[in-house]
Amino acid sequence: MKNFDYIVIGSGIAGLTFALKVASHGRVAIITKKNLTEANTQYAQGGIAAVTKPTDTFDLHVADTLRAGAGLCREEVVRAVVEDGPDRIEELVALGMEFTRGESISADGERFYSLGKEGGHSKRRVLHSKDATGREVMRALLSAIERSPNVSVFEDHFAIDLITTEKLERSGENRCLGAYVLNRNSGEVETFSAPHTLLATGGCGKVYLYTTNPDIATGDGVAMAFRAGVPVANMEFTQFHPTCLFHPKAKSFLVSEALRGEGAVLKGLDGREFMDTAHPMGSLAPRDIVARAIDSEMKRTGAEHMLLDITHKSAPFIIDRFPNIYRTCQAFGVDITKDAIPVVPAAHYQCGGVVAGVNGQTELPGLLAVGEVACTGLHGANRLASNSLLEGLVCAHRAAQHSTTEPLPPIEATIPAWHSGDATDPDELVVVSHNWDEIRRCMWDYVSIVRTQKRLRRARARVENLREEIRQYYWDFKVTADLLELRNIAQVAELIIGCALERPESRGLHYNLDLPGQDETWAQCDTVRRRTVAEGVVGVTD
Ligand code: FAD
Ligand code: SIN
Repeated sequence: MKNFDYIVIGSGIAGLTFALKVASHGRVAIITKKNLTEANTQYAQGGIAAVTKPTDTFDLHVADTLRAGAGLCREEVVRAVVEDGPDRIEELVALGMEFTRGESISADGERFYSLGKEGGHSKRRVLHSKDATGREVMRALLSAIERSPNVSVFEDHFAIDLITTEKLERSGENRCLGAYVLNRNSGEVETFSAPHTLLATGGCGKVYLYTTNPDIATGDGVAMAFRAGVPVANMEFTQFHPTCLFHPKAKSFLVSEALRGEGAVLKGLDGREFMDTAHPMGSLAPRDIVARAIDSEMKRTGAEHMLLDITHKSAPFIIDRFPNIYRTCQAFGVDITKDAIPVVPAAHYQCGGVVAGVNGQTELPGLLAVGEVACTGLHGANRLASNSLLEGLVCAHRAAQHSTTEPLPPIEATIPAWHSGDATDPDELVVVSHNWDEIRRCMWDYVSIVRTQKRLRRARARVENLREEIRQYYWDFKVTADLLELRNIAQVAELIIGCALERPESRGLHYNLDLPGQDETWAQCDTVRRRTVAEGVVGVTD
């Protein structure tokens, strides 16, 4: 058994920020299922939204967030996150993060940050590092982690399940004791224990066939928390990013909304701009509206993609501001200084998740959840662009403060070693890949940008059958990372469908053709799912 003071599951912005901050209070284990940099954070392009200029205000940032969130945000959470933003940004800068600076000079002679604009923002407020902000965030955080003596890193370690007092059938208050973790190199399952476990496992884009997310985004944290009896909420609100590069070989490459912030416009294949009639903010409308408009244009015209055009800007500007997008598109034969970019929407961000406070605390003592895995009430029914890196920073800071000022007693319990089925049958591995594809296609076809009751019910029936098959397989066979991810995406798919069927209206990102209006009695109502012990692993109730 490996004992620590803090277990951090996930090495994106949320996990690394928390780990750095608690490292002066105890021994920290960072568990991450691939290498340290393989996280959604690494791929973030647009930047981090925060109020840093005198012409902007907290009230405006709060109002933009609430408007995007379509009546479902918790205002006190939004305010807390927005108001903490500037301090957290300065901390990142102190760690070595380099944000791009503009030409204008402040009174003390420093160049102001260059601020980008993105969908739904009424002001330029997105701090960025050109168009590869995530890579720079990770560089800064990881170099600080390297200097931190109290942190042990476990790469290629896949957290399987949380360990709780209840699962061990011990008496006393239910509490999180740690996690069972698959060492992918040895194939052994190791036991990690600590008074505080942080879930920072990110989102679940891989539940859908087309996504901007890297392969790690399989909803493991949501699935683990749910299996441990922790409530999960608002999973119907999957954010589809409107502009992912359309090319048979470009796996998941995002074309940042920041392009539209600099004047790029969406057009049909006939060159007609279609966003002006859809929303007063045109191509810079909130993401749910843009993604639906693209979906509708593609269906209306039968086109396989739409176009994003920034060619009216000068080539030196485009290449300097968007070097990463310029280079990547060029590698796929698209010169964005001369050609409109073929784009399609793709699953991007999980607005719901493990129910958690702004300090990361969940209903289960000893378990914290921060970042995309958590549902804090910041995003409501639709996340405002560039608010998620901000949430990761702010909530990780607050979670660190919370767990260091209110530490829990050490774990006394002896935790039994993991037992798994021993069978291995390579012929059966095809079941894993087949079921994986089937779930992702089913979610794309029936549970994506525009939904209907019939499609949702059809998806529920399919996913329930698959879950049964996977459950059988899981108990008989030796665990592998592929099997664990399959089990988790099936669980998360079921949660998304369950929440979608529960909401009797269309709101924000959840658009149901059979229930097109907003039902005001559902404003401020979350769709909460919880596994009850009586129903075992299968049961899902509100
Ligand atoms: P992640 O960064 O995803 O990290 C999750 C970590 O958990 C990873 O290390 C992963 O390997 C690990 N993990 C997962 N499951 C397990 C397990 N079972 N065991 C062990 N480890 C596990 N947001 C913005 O605010 N601004 C942007 O400009 C922006 N651009 C984006 C561009 C792209 C292409 C994408 C995909 C997202 C973008 N987002 C952006 C969203 C933002 O990047 C994410 O929401 C944010 O980075 C999530 O951070 P996180 O720390 O919660 O999770
Ligand atoms: C983007 O750069 O378009 C992504 C920003 C975000 O997801 O917040």
